[in-house]
Amino acid sequence: MCGIIGYIGKNNPKDILLNGLKKLEYRGYDSAGIALKNDNSVQVIKSVGKISALEEKLNREELISANMGIAHTRWATHGNVTLENAHPQVANKITLVHNGIIENTKELKEKFLPTYQFKSATDTEVIAALLDKFYEEEKDIFMALSKTLNNLKGSYALGILVSDINKLYAVRKNSPLIVGIGKNEYFIASDISAIINYTNKYMLLNDDEICELSYESVEVSKDGVIIDKEVKTSDLIDEDTTKGSYEHFMLKEIMEEDKVFEKTLDKYLNNMDLLLDLKNYNEIHIVACGSAMYAGMIGKSLLEEYADIKVSVECASEYRYKKIFYTDKTLVILISQSGETADTIAALRKANDASIDTLAIVNVKTSTIARLAKYKLFIEAGVEVAVATTKAYLLQVLLLVLLTIKTAKSKGLAVDVSEIKEIPKYLREIFTRKDEFRGIVKEIAHSEDIFFIGRQIDYAMSLEGSLKLKEVAYIHSEAYQAGELKHGTISLIEENMPVIAIVTDDDIKDKTLSNIIEVKSRGAKVILITNDNFLEKSDINIVVPKVNKLYQSMLVVPVLQLIAYYTAMMRGCEIDKPKNLAKSVTVE
Ligand code: F6R
Repeated sequence: MCGIIGYIGKNNPKDILLNGLKKLEYRGYDSAGIALKNDNSVQVIKSVGKISALEEKLNREELISANMGIAHTRWATHGNVTLENAHPQVANKITLVHNGIIENTKELKEKFLPTYQFKSATDTEVIAALLDKFYEEEKDIFMALSKTLNNLKGSYALGILVSDINKLYAVRKNSPLIVGIGKNEYFIASDISAIINYTNKYMLLNDDEICELSYESVEVSKDGVIIDKEVKTSDLIDEDTTKGSYEHFMLKEIMEEDKVFEKTLDKYLNNMDLLLDLKNYNEIHIVACGSAMYAGMIGKSLLEEYADIKVSVECASEYRYKKIFYTDKTLVILISQSGETADTIAALRKANDASIDTLAIVNVKTSTIARLAKYKLFIEAGVEVAVATTKAYLLQVLLLVLLTIKTAKSKGLAVDVSEIKEIPKYLREIFTRKDEFRGIVKEIAHSEDIFFIGRQIDYAMSLEGSLKLKEVAYIHSEAYQAGELKHGTISLIEENMPVIAIVTDDDIKDKTLSNIIEVKSRGAKVILITNDNFLEKSDINIVVPKVNKLYQSMLVVPVLQLIAYYTAMMRGCEIDKPKNLAKSVTVE
C-alpha cells in the first residue's frame, strides 16, 4: 500500500530517499514526504500528488545537511489526501512513517491522549503521539517502543526518527519492511527494489523485533535480547526495476512473459519433485484476491478436469470471515504476487490456525505469505512494477498447470505435456501482432460499457480480461457466463455495444456460439477471441494458436492484457499507476 524507505550513513540521504521513493511509487502515490535529520534538527517536507511534486518542492527548499532520514509514499486509508495527512507524521520528539492500519486509534486516544491536539486524521499521528508520550515518561526509547507496540492493534511497518537520538528505528507487524546493509550505511525499505542501487544485502525483520540502525551497525532485538539475524543476498538487478525502452512497465512486463515463463518452467519441469503432489488431498480451497483469484479459477478448471480433485475458489476477503468446512484432507492454496495482501494473509492464518495444510504460490520470496505457508512454490516473475499484474498472473496459471500435471501423473491419469515447452514461442508470435490489437481497440476505446462472455475455462479468462480493462482503461465492463446472459442482463445489450467473446473450449464451443448469435441479433458488436481458424467470422476475429486446453489460457490472457493496455493508451489513462489503486494491498 504505502512505501517506506529510510537511510543512515555517510552520504546525503535526500537523493537516496528520493530515488527509493520513485521505486516504491507503485505501492501508493497520492502524497509523499521526507524527513531529514542531523544532530540538531529534523526537517519535514511533504507534498500532495506524485513523487515528482515532492521532488520539485525539495528542489525549491533550503535543506539541512543531514545524515539520516525517512520517506514515504502514501495510499490513503485513514484521512483524505491532504498535506496534513501525508507522512512523515510528527509528535514533538518523534517523526515517523507508517505502512499499515491501526485499528484501535479511538481507544488509544481516549485512554492515553485525551488532551492531545491532533493535526491530522491519520492513525499514524496516534502512533507518533503515543510513542512520544511513552518516551517522555520512560526516558528510554526501547521501553517506549515496547510499550507503544504492546498497545497497537492492527498492522504496521514503521520508520522512526527521535530528535535527541542519532539513530534510526524500525519495527513491523504484518506489514513488509526489510533492513538493507551497505558499507557503513544502512537502509530500511518496504522492498528491496528501493535500495538495490546501493546494496543487495538485506535482513528480514520479524513481527515485534526492534531494529536500531546507527552509523556503525544495525542491531535487532526482541524483549531486550539481541538477535543474530541472517544477512541475505538479493539477485535483483536495477534493470529489473526500470522501464528500459518501453513507455510503460505494463507493456515491458507483458513482453517479458515468454522469458519468465521459460525460467519458471525450467525450474520446475526439470525437477518435478519441487512441486507438491496433491493426490492425498480430496478437496482444495484456492484463496486469493483479484487477478490471483482469477488465475485460481483457471486452476480449478484444470485440476478438476485433469487431476480429478474437487476445488473451490474464493476471494480471501470473504473466506477469512465465513464458516469453512475443513476435512483432514483439505489443502488451502493461497495465490499472491506480492505475498503481502492482507486478506490473503488472514485466510492463510485461518487455515494455519485450523492446522490445515497450506501451499502458497508467490512471487516475492521474502513476503509474509511465503514465510507463513507450510509449502511454498515461487514463480520466477522478477519484479512486477505496473499496478496491473500481467506476467505474474501468467506464471500463477503456469504453476497451477504444473501442479495439475504432477498430480494427474501421480494418479495415473492421462495428461499431455508435449506442448508446454512451445508456449513461449507462441507468446512471441502473439507479441509480433501488436498492430492488429492496436487496430482492434479502436472499436472499444470509446465505449463506456463492455461485456466479456465465455463458458467454463473461457469464462475464467473473461473475468481477467474484464478486470484488466476496468483497471487500466477505466471502462465499465462485466464478465458473464455466456449462458447466463439471457436471464436478465441481455436487456443491457444495445446497438454497437462491444461484446468480447472467448471461445476456446471445444467441449462447449457450440453453446457459446449460440450465445454470440443472441447478442449479435440484439445489435452487439462481437470481438471473438478463439483458437479455431474455421469459426464463422464475427465482427472481428482474433485467432490465437490452438494448443491443449491445459495451456490455452496462457495464450489468450496475454491478448486480453494487450487489448487493455492499448485501450488505456488510446484513452490517455495513467497506465502503470491507475487512479485509486496500489500494487500491494496490505490493508483489509
Ligand atoms: C489486478 C491486480 C490485483 C491483484 C490483487 C492480488 O491487475 O493486480 O487484482 O491480483 O490485488 O494481489 P497479490 O497477487 O499481490 O496478492
